[in-house]
Amino acid sequence: MEVLETRAALRSWRAKVHGAVGFVPTMGALHEGHLSLVRQSLADNPWTIVSIFVNPRQFGPNEDYHRYPRTLETDLRLLRNLGVSAVFVPSEEEMYSLEDEVYITLTRLSRLWCGGYRLGHFDGVVLVLTKLFHLTAPTRAYFGEKDFQQLRIVEKMVEELFFPIEVVRVPTVREPDGLAMSSRNTYLSPRGRAQAVALYKTLQYIQTLVPTCPLAQDLLAEGRAYLSENYPEIKLEYLAIVDEYSLQPIEHLRQSLKLRALIAAYVEGVRLIDNIPLVVPDESS
Ligand code: PAJ
Repeated sequence: MEVLETRAALRSWRAKVHGAVGFVPTMGALHEGHLSLVRQSLADNPWTIVSIFVNPRQFGPNEDYHRYPRTLETDLRLLRNLGVSAVFVPSEEEMYSLEDEVYITLTRLSRLWCGGYRLGHFDGVVLVLTKLFHLTAPTRAYFGEKDFQQLRIVEKMVEELFFPIEVVRVPTVREPDGLAMSSRNTYLSPRGRAQAVALYKTLQYIQTLVPTCPLAQDLLAEGRAYLSENYPEIKLEYLAIVDEYSLQPIEHLRQSLKLRALIAAYVEGVRLIDNIPLVVPDESS
């Protein structure tokens, strides 16, 4: 496995590989969620490259950029054992310069949900991915459904900026109790960790009510009540039922729509997100 630290090293690695290249962008602190993306890429492509870069541009001033877990040695060992071809681990200077002029501003999709609370976050994600996509020129790029809004924004970005890249969706990997794996779960105390399953439990609870309740506002009210009764310490940021394509909230659940339930909440001050596809049975359509 080649460990590439500079753009020049990455470009020369890229110039010498032929055939399909799978790319898995990450911020490190790798867990089974990340590794499932890597395994999918290894299965689909003769070459797989992973990037590890905690991108300062996607963190707000009061967010956890400095505290974000950095476990490079362990990450490299995991990736080497899986049989990854190369890892790109650039410094901040390698990716950005103080003289930078180019910022990317997104519109509708980035202002909803997480974007409404983390201003500029998705602009930063798209900027770093544009740079990484140019450098790695992958055939396919792998993204987790765990960050569903990010996934939709990446799909739009690839489409609108004409990147010749196939975006591959990978389902969310969960802990045995249902908590979506996340690098941020490591911030939680054992007590907080036990509470954190509330996000998934609330989404599942909403799913159980779907057959008898076709109105999104009723389902959301039930979901909020479930959360505050069973997990009073958790601070809900948003709970939403959206159209999977536009991420716009919907009012009536119909079987013909592809729907997602989205949630963001704070557990011990740690911001966690989750989502599930909502299945609407025939009867309520
Ligand atoms: P990061 O949070 O490290 O996640 C990297 C990739 O792993 C993302 O596509 C994310 O959706 C996926 N992932 C994380 N947890 C997952 C889980 N439990 N199951 C399945 N996939 C999971 O997302 C980022 O980094 C950054 O925004 C990045 C795209 C690298 C740009 O900086």
